[in-house]
Amino acid sequence: MRTKNCLIAYFSRKGNNYVSGKIVNLPVGNTEIAAKMIQELTGGEMFHIEAAKAYPEGYTEATEVARKELHENARPELTALVKEIAPYDVVFLGYPNWWNTLPMPVFTFLERHDLVGKTIAPFCTHEGSGLGRSENDIAKLCPGTKLVNGLAIHGTHVKAARTDIENWLKTVE
Ligand SMILES: Cc1cc2nc3c(=O)[nH]c(=O)nc-3n(C[C@H](O)[C@H](O)[C@H](O)COP(=O)(O)O)c2cc1C
Repeated sequence: MRTKNCLIAYFSRKGNNYVSGKIVNLPVGNTEIAAKMIQELTGGEMFHIEAAKAYPEGYTEATEVARKELHENARPELTALVKEIAPYDVVFLGYPNWWNTLPMPVFTFLERHDLVGKTIAPFCTHEGSGLGRSENDIAKLCPGTKLVNGLAIHGTHVKAARTDIENWLKTVE
């Protein structure tokens, strides 16, 4: 697996977040921490999926914006796209569980790149819902790709997830 060209494309929102029942300020988002571990273990390239319009720092405000986007099936604009995606064989796709699925900027990312023929390996951080229905949504958005069983990481425990990540990487071919 490590001989393949890997892209680690991730969405992550730093700021106030809900952690084990409390609002906590996270200077680095949970998904970004997991993405960096995958980068260290695979030597892949990192790409930050970022919405052109930043989400509110406040947790409740962010959940409201995200819920509206989900209901509207929005495709928020991104700050950048991957310049040349063709050379990558494997795309590690990282995101927080938002309302039981992908944040809408990740929908934008998947629709705006040609991923046919690639392996997609989803990893998700969450506060209890695991991957939710995100894998189904990825499958619908990405026909012609090979979708690996995703890895769900409890956001609160992301710093202790290295072994789980290592074991999961062995399943990604
Ligand atoms: C807008 C929003 C919606 C969320 N919805 C869910 C959810 O439906 N289920 C869940 O388990 N966690 C939910 N969470 C918690 C995040 O998935 C969790 O805190 C995640 O680790 C945050 O990752 P990040 O720091 O990389 O953004 C939500 C958080 C936000 C901000």
